[in-house]
Amino acid sequence: MIPLNKPGRINSSSRGGNLLEYYFPQNNTYLLSTASDALNVIYKRLFKEKGSIRVGVSPLVCFQAIYPIVCNGHVPVFMDINPDTFNLDVNKLNDYDIQALEVIHLGGNPNEMDTIIKFANTRGIPVIEDCAQALGAKYDERYLGNYGDFAAFSLIKNLHAPSGGLLVSVSDLSSYLNEAPEMGSLLRIYRKTKIYLEGMANHHPLNIWNLFYWGLMTLKGDAAGYSLSKDVYQLKAGDVEDIKRRFAALESLLHRRSENAIRIIQDVDYRRAKVQVVPERGVSNWNRIMFKLVDKDAEEVIGRLRREGIAANNLTQNYKHGFQPHVSKDRLLARFYQVRLEAYENLLPHIISVPSSPFLKEDEIRHISRQMNSILS
Ligand SMILES: Cc1ncc(COP(=O)(O)O)c(C=O)c1O
Repeated sequence: MIPLNKPGRINSSSRGGNLLEYYFPQNNTYLLSTASDALNVIYKRLFKEKGSIRVGVSPLVCFQAIYPIVCNGHVPVFMDINPDTFNLDVNKLNDYDIQALEVIHLGGNPNEMDTIIKFANTRGIPVIEDCAQALGAKYDERYLGNYGDFAAFSLIKNLHAPSGGLLVSVSDLSSYLNEAPEMGSLLRIYRKTKIYLEGMANHHPLNIWNLFYWGLMTLKGDAAGYSLSKDVYQLKAGDVEDIKRRFAALESLLHRRSENAIRIIQDVDYRRAKVQVVPERGVSNWNRIMFKLVDKDAEEVIGRLRREGIAANNLTQNYKHGFQPHVSKDRLLARFYQVRLEAYENLLPHIISVPSSPFLKEDEIRHISRQMNSILS
């Protein structure tokens, strides 16, 4: 199976020492084990400062982006999306009673941050940018993660590191991190194995590595409440050095990923699959290639693409069949979905992501667009 975010060899001799200062010049930065860790620290901090608050968030996202709100004592308030950008509908921001706003740059596609920051400043509420998929993406020439009070990045998804999350914050959060335990060896081994197998897997039926990769993926149960842990892990010094080196390769990774994504987008029949729209002043990093299917059911198409060796999904890999259900079916989040969100309801049954990576090979790029067109015709 061609994995969603195929890893590959990163050649970077530079140590990349101060690149975090380059990308996030006015902020504090902390390297942790995942984006979820970073979100947990943010919501812990907000609980300590403000108690339980109502946090506006789009339900069209991997639920790992929402669990930290609930697990740290807050209340998610679901907000509707723009059916073209798949991000927040900025015309509806005033419709909700919220005390903080989590902005998810879905697939690496920037939200309209000028309107969002103006809104948040008027209300006097903090903004948390979920940049799990958005390292290197920009709005108005400014890297995402520099707009909010806090931001969380996944370096597994963006730099193909076996482990890594980045917490970016205007305020000093070091007191929340000092006591975090080091990530355990078993988890490190699991992640290194996973990334190795993802690098070897592909769509050729005779590739033996696919068997191991498939075995690893079926280890995951079907995943309601897949990871509710509030634990925050520090990385070993060697992993931190590895991540810093990877930062030095970021621009070349972004360039190659965009080139590959644009080829797939151009080859897929736009009459049957509408690609996620990037706002005028934004630059997506194409961490995911997301389409809205015009007249087909996403769950069925995802199943067929998977049978052709393409790890498609709708919003996350955390479910065995690649389809995360409606938020009202999630055992932790269901009770918070109280008002029907029209655009979310209409889009969810039709949204899919196909693999995007700087490391896709020529025949993989062709296989993805060819299979998409054949299944959608
Ligand atoms: C938008 C978004 N936020 C947060 C997360 C959690 O990231 P991590 O797996 O690094 O904890 C994910 C994972 O899929 C995600 O897609």
